[in-house]
Amino acid sequence: MRALSDRVLRASESQTLAIAARAKQLSRAGYPVISLAVGEPDFPTPPCVQAAAIAAITEGRTRYTESSGIPELRRAVAEKFRRENCLPYADEDTVLISCGAKHSIMNALHAICNRGDRVIIVAPYWVSYPAMVVLAGAEPVILETTPASGFKLQPEQLRAALDSRTACVILNSPCNPTGVMYTRHELEALAAVLADHDCYIISDEIYEQLSYTCEHISIGSFDAIADRTITVNGCSKAYAMTGWRIGFMTGPCPLIAQAAKVQSQDTSNPTSIAQYAALAALEHAAADVAHMRTCFAERRRLLLELLASVPQVQAHPPDGAFYVWLDVRSLLQGRMSSHQLATALLEQEFVASVPGEAFGMPGYLRLSFATSEEALQAAVERFAAYVQRIAAE
Ligand SMILES: Cc1ncc(COP(=O)(O)O)c(C=O)c1O
Repeated sequence: MRALSDRVLRASESQTLAIAARAKQLSRAGYPVISLAVGEPDFPTPPCVQAAAIAAITEGRTRYTESSGIPELRRAVAEKFRRENCLPYADEDTVLISCGAKHSIMNALHAICNRGDRVIIVAPYWVSYPAMVVLAGAEPVILETTPASGFKLQPEQLRAALDSRTACVILNSPCNPTGVMYTRHELEALAAVLADHDCYIISDEIYEQLSYTCEHISIGSFDAIADRTITVNGCSKAYAMTGWRIGFMTGPCPLIAQAAKVQSQDTSNPTSIAQYAALAALEHAAADVAHMRTCFAERRRLLLELLASVPQVQAHPPDGAFYVWLDVRSLLQGRMSSHQLATALLEQEFVASVPGEAFGMPGYLRLSFATSEEALQAAVERFAAYVQRIAAE
């Protein structure tokens, strides 16, 4: 048989899928599985958003829209980017609405990358970045962070990695999986390095609304790199709309035009109904977001408190998103990998987590607190029981 696409074959499959599939299988078989592996809010989509979608259906706004998104949504997103993120160039023509932030990033990478280009990714990274870069025909270059640097990319590390083949740097604040957020000062230092290099910056800000300890800053707001930065955001996490598939980005006009061309030949417009729902979310759902943020903040506090009493593990307190990045290296002590630990926790204690291997950094587990306080309590109790058992072995 003729060989399949080299590019596609080289892209890795999601490592989180196997654990998620096994968790579902155990759950279906009647085992009391608690999932701390989820990557989506457990709240319902806000009522005003639901109502807007129903109205779009009953009023017949169910046909193809402009491929780049309906003008009123593009205007609302541009207004949000200018007002909340101080992005000077955001307007109707430099905003592209896509089928989720993942789609926005993929469209941007298609518009940016040539064969042989390099794209810098900071580890631990969101699982999809390396595969997306490979699918776009470029090479991922992974820069590892350390606990000592708070899992943050350091300016000198970035400077050393940038070269003429670097087409793009992907930044993610708040970060999945660590919850790390870069301060204004830290972003300024990274922007100063990037100012000297002719490359694009994709700033993935999908968790912007879920921040607990510091103010969210968009790196695209710094003059030196504003005209080369693509800022990505969307409705999935902020408005509990993961299934609706609405993401958006703004960036330099020529790049957005090419990304829009990719989308127009690929998927065409995101679902019309979801676009009207997204418009309602941006215009009317601020109180719902505030409520979710308050709940997440309380769960974050609880999970950190519970984990503090588990020996041999250390939680890195997240600034944002809804994950705790748990250092399990002293627990592992060479007797198993974090992947094996996650598997054992699932098979023996029915607690699902995501091992650090999925994010390019073994030795850690990602625990999601997008679940009830009771579930968090029970999960950590089981985890502690497991730790005690293996310590006694
Ligand atoms: C860091 C990060 N970026 C982007 C996405 C994709 O978001 P969406 O569901 O809008 O495609 C996710 C989803 O988990 C994410 O964690």
